[in-house]
Amino acid sequence: MSLLKWPASFLWGSSTSSHQVEGNNVQNDWWAWEQSRPPEFQSGDAADQWHRWREDIDLLKGLGQNAYRLSLEWSRVEPQEGAIDQEVLTHYKQVLSYCRAQGIATVVTLHHFTNPLWIRDRGGWTSAKTVTAFVHYAETVLKALGSEIDFLITINEPQVYSYMSYTAGMWPPNETNPLSAALVMWQMSRAHRAVYKRSKQLLPSLPVGIAYNMTTFESYHGTRRERFFERFFDIVNNRSFYWLTGMRKHDFLGVNYYFHRRLDGSKSFVPTFIDPLRIGKPVSDLGWELCPTMLGKLLRSLARYKKPLLVTEHGLADADDSRRPQFLQESLQSLLEAKRAGAPIIGYLHWSFLDNFEWADGFTPRFGLVEIDYTTQKRTPRASALLYKQCIERYRNESI
Ligand code: FCB
Repeated sequence: MSLLKWPASFLWGSSTSSHQVEGNNVQNDWWAWEQSRPPEFQSGDAADQWHRWREDIDLLKGLGQNAYRLSLEWSRVEPQEGAIDQEVLTHYKQVLSYCRAQGIATVVTLHHFTNPLWIRDRGGWTSAKTVTAFVHYAETVLKALGSEIDFLITINEPQVYSYMSYTAGMWPPNETNPLSAALVMWQMSRAHRAVYKRSKQLLPSLPVGIAYNMTTFESYHGTRRERFFERFFDIVNNRSFYWLTGMRKHDFLGVNYYFHRRLDGSKSFVPTFIDPLRIGKPVSDLGWELCPTMLGKLLRSLARYKKPLLVTEHGLADADDSRRPQFLQESLQSLLEAKRAGAPIIGYLHWSFLDNFEWADGFTPRFGLVEIDYTTQKRTPRASALLYKQCIERYRNESI
């Protein structure tokens, strides 16, 4: 993989995913499911990025960023099994090459929660046939677009996808069977390994990884049992996919970080998570605890894997942007301290570049550095986007 040197090629950017911003992804399983939900939970035009991508990339560049994480929509690339839409590939090629022409590195995700309807109809990710189909889709993308991709992420948050869709029943296909969820993890790990192998044949120098949702766990009372579960939850949540695939099938570790969980073992054998509000901790609009210093701590703990670390998502829902500036500043500070202490961090991508469709929560949560007015599609950078720009400029000139 390319030698990424700090700070010249450190990635400072932000992230989105296709279904959350493109709009009108009418041929995937999410769209189909949304139609049975109230209008505020339907993605509709979303941020209309399918048409406004050029404006968006110009904006990202104007905000001082040098990296953009986006996903390709499988249901657009391959709306029917084996039928590749060449116009869609051309569209994505334009988007990616435009980014690179502007000096923006492209971090491209192949699977970010959505599936084509034909994949859904033949059993989704519980079926081994989906692995074969995914590898074919990945090959198509690598051959058509590989030269425009700087980092490849095969799958976004496999354990979140399998849990939400197959155990919690909250996302399509709304199943509540933990055995199906385990099978999905297995099939996704096979898919990742196969795409990794194929990409090394086609594009040996392209760095390949996943974006893994990492949670930090902390015992609240400091008891031995809570401490035991700190480690247990860490293994189950933060490492299982790496065990299934093997660490050698990852050129870098993509880290999505949102949750710090405090464990309370006083009421049950298996500790529960404490509601942060009950103990006076600051939270986002979604009630997720804001714990900026934990970002650096997490990255330091991941240094033991001796792989480049790329923060692929990190952010908060904060509609009035009252907490984001401070949260961002403190998070970046802790990241820099981890970097100085030797953690091999190669970039930070904030979630999200734009306000977007936040899955089952619809449009209410506002994660964007840039605000979207959904009636006019007007983009307005929030104060935190400007602060982020200043931080990027300052850190670029600092020798660390
Ligand atoms: C992550 C998802 C991303 C977004 C953020 C808030 O789990 O990968 O699409 O929804 O959460």
